[in-house]
Amino acid sequence: MKLTDKFKLTDSERDQRLGFLRLGRDDFRLLAGLRQDIGKQIPAIVAEFYDELFKFSEPRRQFADKKKLEHVQAAQRDYLLSLFAGEPDDAYIEQRLKIGEIHERIGVPLKWYIGSMGWFFARLVAALPGPARTPETAVALNKVMNLDLQLALESYASLSSRLKAMDQRIKDTATALNAVLDQDK
Ligand code: HEM
Repeated sequence: MKLTDKFKLTDSERDQRLGFLRLGRDDFRLLAGLRQDIGKQIPAIVAEFYDELFKFSEPRRQFADKKKLEHVQAAQRDYLLSLFAGEPDDAYIEQRLKIGEIHERIGVPLKWYIGSMGWFFARLVAALPGPARTPETAVALNKVMNLDLQLALESYASLSSRLKAMDQRIKDTATALNAVLDQDK
């Protein structure tokens, strides 16, 4: 099942989110116009991000496998570029939900995920070419990243509650089994 279906991300739901954020055509056009400039800096920004992240032992532990690191860095570069890609379509929304699920499944704590979004926001604003480093651009970028964060956190939360429900079912089964075993004593 597609995640957009599972989370009922219908066209009207998407429009509601964009409407509340006041995220519209002008924002997407503004950001898409910067794609080339920012695109050139993205590899360096991603390299810098991992240098910073790996100063901390907790996130370092997530990347014991070096091959995985290369794959994730490439995915991260695509992700950042997609912030400057124009209006979000179905595939865009699906990918954001998937990103949330992946991080929840591998156990990346929210503080690192949300912190990383903040880190990238600040770094991307600093990377904007001088004349484009305006409040309008920063606000447009913030709105796009807020939409992404909403989507990622929703799938984070949903997986969490499913895992909790499974955990409860396992506990209930164990209690029932123990009761049966006690009867046989
Ligand atoms: C701005 C925040 C972040 C974004 C946008 C992001 C994005 C991504 C993307 C696009 C992937 C690839 C998913 C795929 O293979 O389809 C990925 C995978 C991964 N990310 Fe992140 N990430 C973020 C933060 C973090 C943080 C803070 C950590 C660790 C502390 C982390 C650890 C990982 C790991 C270990 C994988 C590989 C998962 C696997 O395939 O087993 N990410 N991330």
